[in-house]
Amino acid sequence: MFEGLQKKWKVNGLQLTLILCTFAIGGSATGYVGKKVMNALNIQQDWLWTIIYILLITIIWPLAVIIISIPFGQYRFFIKYIKKLGNKIGIGSGSRESGVGVRNLAIFASGAGSNAEKIIEHFRNHPSIKVALIVTNNAKAGVLTIAEKNRIPTLFIEKEAFFGGNSYINELKSAKIDFIVLAGFLWKIPANLIKEYPGKIVNIHPALLPRFGGKGMYGRFVHQAVTEQKEKESGISIHIVDEIYDHGEIIFQATCPVLENDTAETLAQRIHVLEHEHYPKVIEELVNR
Ligand code: GRF
Repeated sequence: MFEGLQKKWKVNGLQLTLILCTFAIGGSATGYVGKKVMNALNIQQDWLWTIIYILLITIIWPLAVIIISIPFGQYRFFIKYIKKLGNKIGIGSGSRESGVGVRNLAIFASGAGSNAEKIIEHFRNHPSIKVALIVTNNAKAGVLTIAEKNRIPTLFIEKEAFFGGNSYINELKSAKIDFIVLAGFLWKIPANLIKEYPGKIVNIHPALLPRFGGKGMYGRFVHQAVTEQKEKESGISIHIVDEIYDHGEIIFQATCPVLENDTAETLAQRIHVLEHEHYPKVIEELVNR
């Protein structure tokens, strides 16, 4: 159980102990203060007492744990935790309905869009992250059908506009895009876009970078190279985008075996399964980081 919590909250053993202590002391302090206030109010009816007590501890508890988290050095963890909790029950600043605090994603894709589809599914009812725009450079891209099915606005970018100006960046800004997810987008991201979204553009590559990356290494070419070189293992790399192809900080990798009789196609299928499983979750962690 404790290992599960450590993984979930991405903390070490000591931090987990401090967090659990904060929860325990915060909970007891909430009960203590709540009872004191209720005694002072001196309410006679049982039902009214219960309602007011519940409301009271709902207000006191977050304050108590935040105050107690300070001496335990866990203030940042609890601020995040309580914000998330607020978002979940729809009262946080991240409430999707109000639009306040919601982080909007734009997915850039040039092809079939199976990753885009999984990402859309993952964030469909998310309290604070929304897929707000699909951007493509290919008028025949399958991702456009997926966007239509999910009623997500689309933006088509022409080559000249993408590499020669800022007009589409204004469109991203007016759609309030906070984060860009590349999911099979085949053009190199220009410097002006990276400057506008520093550290906020993420890409998935269907191999274990830094190997099998770079210009021309996309789609089946990657898997072909991997099988031709008789690799025993391949996988996926999720990385922040910088100005060099497939080069920015790698934030996640997962591996799968390459079988002796694998073709580029069979390997591609195995890689797609990995991508679908991990990419949406990694994006969520990154956006919340
Ligand atoms: C994926 O394999 C991804 O790694 C690469 O492009 C492919 C897109 O596939 N960058 P899909 O369009 O999401 O099916």
